Amino acid sequence: MSRSGASKLQGRLRRARRVAVLTGAGVSAESGVPTFRGTDGLWRQYRAEDLATPEAFRRDPGLVWEWYDWRRQLVATCQPNPAHRAIAALERDAPEFLLITQNVDGLHRKAGSVRVVELHGNLWRVRCVRDERTTENLEAPLQDIPPRCTCGGLLRPDVVWFGEALPAEDLRRAFEAAESCEIFLVVGTSAVVQPAASLPMIAREHGAYVVEVNLEPTPLTSTAHESHHGKAGEILPHLLGLTPVPGPPSPVPQGPPCSP
Ligand code: APR
Repeated sequence: MSRSGASKLQGRLRRARRVAVLTGAGVSAESGVPTFRGTDGLWRQYRAEDLATPEAFRRDPGLVWEWYDWRRQLVATCQPNPAHRAIAALERDAPEFLLITQNVDGLHRKAGSVRVVELHGNLWRVRCVRDERTTENLEAPLQDIPPRCTCGGLLRPDVVWFGEALPAEDLRRAFEAAESCEIFLVVGTSAVVQPAASLPMIAREHGAYVVEVNLEPTPLTSTAHESHHGKAGEILPHLLGLTPVPGPPSPVPQGPPCSP
């Protein structure tokens, strides 16, 4: 990435008061968390309809929990990478900021992000199907599968499954940020799942400068003002002016390898 490209965006960021960021699974890839649609993505290995739908949970809550328990144990050993940390640093400099993530791994908060909307929920929260109470549950591995609430009801992962509505307040905040921000940064998403995929377009239609950072082109690439293709953990720190642009990006210190 060129020096001028990075410093141009840094200049915009310095002048901007309102910044919004949308992330997807690609921002956690260098932490060792599998993405969904890449060559080794989760949806290549598993059928989403068997594991990530209300029907699948009704049919076999034990099987669904075994899969989520595996994902929780994997994520529990993963650490934020330079991309997560760059976004947390960006938040500290922006007067008005919102991070909208599709990820459920909790790594943005672990990296220090505070003003975060987790559009698709969080792996580390559970919800009782009987009384709807949500609680934090950090057991990895789970003691009981499927886990039960103190009221005796089944607990489910507090994540949004295919066919379910997103939390209304989170959605309202996300659209409000897209409509009012000056810069909209999109990192590590294939931009194919709605309603998150509409946010960059809405931001652009409302006058925001849209920047994409992704390993490969996506449906968003042709409409973003800037697209940077490569690893977010290598591109973002330079792009956001958090480390000098040395020429070829320096190797990104990888987080400790996640246990399989
Ligand atoms: N740096 C930047 N981008 C990367 C990296 C990386 N190191 N590794 C992968 N990517 C890119 C891929 O090229 C891909 O475009 O990240 C994107 C990940 O896309 P998906 O796997 O489709 O994940 P995401 O966009 O988050 O999926 C959205 O779909 O299945 C649902 O609920 C799930 O939240 C998820 C939603």
